[in-house]
Order: sequence, then structure tokens, then C-alpha cells
Amino acid sequence: MDEIGIGLIGTGYMGKCHALAWNAVRPVFGDGPRPRLVHLGEATAELAARRADEFGFAKSSGDWREVIADPAVEVVSITTPNAFHAEMAIAALAAGKHVWCEKPMATSLADAERMAAAAAQASGKVTALGYNYIQNPVIRHIERLLGEGAIGTVNHVRLEMDEDFMADPEAPFYWKSEASSGYGALDDFGVHPLSLLHRLFGGVTRVMANQAKPYADRPLATGGRRAVETWDIASVLFELPGGVSGLMALDRSAWGRKGRIAMQIFGSTGAIAYDQERFNEFQLYTAADRGTEQGFRTVLAAPAHAPYDRFIPAPGHGLGFNDLKVIEAHEVLKAIRGEPARIIDFGAGLGIERAVHAMARSHNERRWVDV
Ligand SMILES: NC(=O)c1ccc[n+]([C@@H]2O[C@H](COP(=O)([O-])OP(=O)(O)OC[C@H]3O[C@@H](n4cnc5c(N)ncnc54)[C@H](O)[C@@H]3O)[C@@H](O)[C@H]2O)c1
Repeated sequence: MDEIGIGLIGTGYMGKCHALAWNAVRPVFGDGPRPRLVHLGEATAELAARRADEFGFAKSSGDWREVIADPAVEVVSITTPNAFHAEMAIAALAAGKHVWCEKPMATSLADAERMAAAAAQASGKVTALGYNYIQNPVIRHIERLLGEGAIGTVNHVRLEMDEDFMADPEAPFYWKSEASSGYGALDDFGVHPLSLLHRLFGGVTRVMANQAKPYADRPLATGGRRAVETWDIASVLFELPGGVSGLMALDRSAWGRKGRIAMQIFGSTGAIAYDQERFNEFQLYTAADRGTEQGFRTVLAAPAHAPYDRFIPAPGHGLGFNDLKVIEAHEVLKAIRGEPARIIDFGAGLGIERAVHAMARSHNERRWVDV
């Protein structure tokens, strides 16, 4: 397999990120098939043609079904708003394509279940969700340290995810404030820290959640105001397998926070701290250090933390957000080649969706809910 045909649906923030990843994956990793950018779909034919020219796709269409129907397309990247994921992914699987779909899976549990069922039926077809943060070489190394017992037995995990893109109360109403987009912070957002919990600890088993709306309404572009239907803030108590306790705070209206996914992992002999806003480093504390020198040490990402070495031979120079998608694209290609791959497929992704919906139910029923 020298080449693999790529289809891309949606060309906004994530669509560009996928296009960059498909373009970079072969030069960065030097193995696997070379992605051939075959067919790009957008909401209009005019935008599709413009983006196809920019990104380097041979064909374009204003109808996403044409991308999926194209026999030269073997993998479909789905980077449209959440409400489209289920229909597009299920259609792509039915057409015999591999699917790399952005997170969250869907806006309802029923749709996520249909996606997982379609994936289970599509034998030999790979599905992957856009949980790029698990690809960070630093997160991979933290996983290794946990496996090696570097901080002993983990007894508490604390996570915060904060951004400020919904912080301005006068920012216009858009789809992220509509109930049709999902719950809000929990699914738009909380699925990312949940992907870390899934990867590092096997996911959450019980949850107790509270959601909040910082602003009751937002201005409409056409005049007047519209009631906000989603929850921009959520606080969650959770348990991990084995009863390990945890706490997660989510806020997409947190002024000053730009891309924070802060994680503290406490164990019997040490602790690890990480923050996505400084994602080329992590902090390690080991109680075995002499009392006179005890303290968190900052470890900078380096070629020793694979696959950092595939990008840069020098330590401490740092990867960027888009590089995580290049690593993710490489994992998708590994899975297509039948190799073990670090991806969250639709089956595993359904577990994350179930956790989100359990949190929403906990909020509604004001009680602990099993996942
Ligand atoms: N993995 C991450 O870190 C991450 C970050 C941001 C967004 N996302 C996810 O990516 C997805 C897209 O978010 P975004 O921020 O890129 O949105 P966006 O609004 O920037 O882009 C969405 C694109 O989809 C196109 N589109 C809409 N309807 C379409 C249709 N019917 N057919 C074809 N194209 C259509 C729009 O024209 C637009 O170009 C969402 O599911 C979001 O949750 C993931």
C-alpha cells in the first residue's frame, strides 16, 4: 500500500488541522502509505473549491455524500459540527471507508450507540475519534511512569479544563449555545480530560456532577437576545476503577484561561503535574528524594519522549498543537495497517460518551450515577 486516498468533510479549525496532518504524516514519520488528498467536502461548492485549492485536494464538492461515494476515498476525516458526526460517520462506514471523526462522537447517546454499532459491523474498517491530547509525547511518558510505579499507587486525580472562548457575556449567540449541540462544557469540552482518564486509568466508573450557566442569554446577530440552552461550567466528582477518587472542573467561560487542561496525579510515593497550556513539560515529585532537595522537578519534552524525536532532534524546543494531530494521523494509519495503535475508536469512545451522559443525569437527578 504505497498511497491511501483521503476524503475530508469540513474545513474550519479542525478541518485545516486534519489537512495539515495528512500532509505532514509521511514526511514526519517516514513510514506507511503516503496520503493522497482526493476529495474535500464543504457546506457550499464555492467554499469547497477554495479550500481544496488551499489544502491540496484534487476534487471538491458542496455535498458531503459525494466525498463518501468517491471510490478513490479510503479514509474520511469528519470535522464538521457535532450534530453531523453520526450521520456522516455511519454513511462513511456503510460505504466501506475508514473513519477519523472529531470529538465528541455525537450529540445524543443514541447516536453514539448507533455509531459504535456501525463500527462493530464494518469489519476491517478502522474508526478513530479526535482525542489528540492522548497523543502528546509528555502524556505518553506520564503513562509509562504510572505503569512503572514511579509515584507508587495512585490514590487521587484532579483535573481542570478551562478556556475563555465563551467568557464574554456579549459575544453573539452561536451553535455552541444551542441544546442541539449537546450539554455544553461536559461534552464539547469535558470529553478531552475524560480521554486522558480513559487512556491513563481505564475511564471513570461513578460520577456526581453539577452544571452551571454563567450567562442566561446572549445577543443575536439579527437583534434581540436568545436564552442560552447549554451549560458552560461543570463540576464533577468521580471514581476510577479500584475506587480511586477524582475531581474534574470544566469551564469554557473562564477569562484568562486559553487552553488549560491541568492534571494532578497523586500516588503513595510521589506526584505528577501537567498543564496543556505548557504541554512540552511535566512535573514530577518523588518522595524518595532527600528531604533537603525535595520538590517538583520540571521535565522538558525531548527526543527521549517518543515520538517527539520524529519532529525535532533537539530537546526542549517544543511541539505544537497541530503536531498532536500529525501523531494521531500516524496512529490512524497504523491501525489501518493492522498494527497496534494508540487511538480511541468508536467502541472505546462510547465509554466516554456514557460517562458524559451519566454526568448529565447526575446533575438532573442530584445524585451519584454509575457509568
Ligand atoms: N480535537 C480538538 O482538539 C478539537 C478542537 C476544536 C474542535 N473540535 C471538534 O471539531 C469539530 C468541528 O469544530 P471546528 O471548531 O472545526 O468548527 P468550525 O466551525 O471551525 O468548522 C466546521 C466546518 O464544517 C463545515 N460544515 C458545516 N456543515 C457542513 C456540511 N453539511 N457539509 C460539509 N461541511 C460542513 C463548516 O462550513 C465549517 O467549515 C467539532 O466536532 C468540534 O467539537 C475538536
